[in-house]
Amino acid sequence: MNIAIASDHGGFELKEELKTFLNDTGISCTDLGVANGESVDYPDFGMALAVRVSDGEFESGILICGTGIGMSIVANKFPKVRAALVWDTFTARMAREHNDANVLVIGGRTTEKGLAKEMVKVWLDARFEGGRHQLRLDKIREIEKMWGMG
Ligand code: RB5
Repeated sequence: MNIAIASDHGGFELKEELKTFLNDTGISCTDLGVANGESVDYPDFGMALAVRVSDGEFESGILICGTGIGMSIVANKFPKVRAALVWDTFTARMAREHNDANVLVIGGRTTEKGLAKEMVKVWLDARFEGGRHQLRLDKIREIEKMWGMG
């Protein structure tokens, strides 16, 4: 799996934790920053990851900011990016099975580290169900095209 991870300062600690978790489970991920806990602007790091998922350089990504809200708003501006802010293992599984979310978004200040790891694992292990859900994703693509988004 070709996966990237990025955060702002509000998600830095959890990003480091999740990087170790992914490496320990045999999944290498590319860290697109931030490099430390100093204050930065989440759109810069959300964009760095979302643009690369959008153009296919990375199959999937994980974004973390304080609440996950800012990163969700940024990532969903990019065509073909389906970013899902999740808060438990059920929403993490649904994000893949129903929405085929290619970016998982987590709140670094709202999510306990153990739960965050569980959510990442569930999302990575889950499979998109297709069928009626694919028809709905097709409609989302049509909306993107209406707005001239690739
Ligand atoms: C940064 O203080 C905070 O606003 C950011 O991490 C995020 O929660 C925004 O949605």
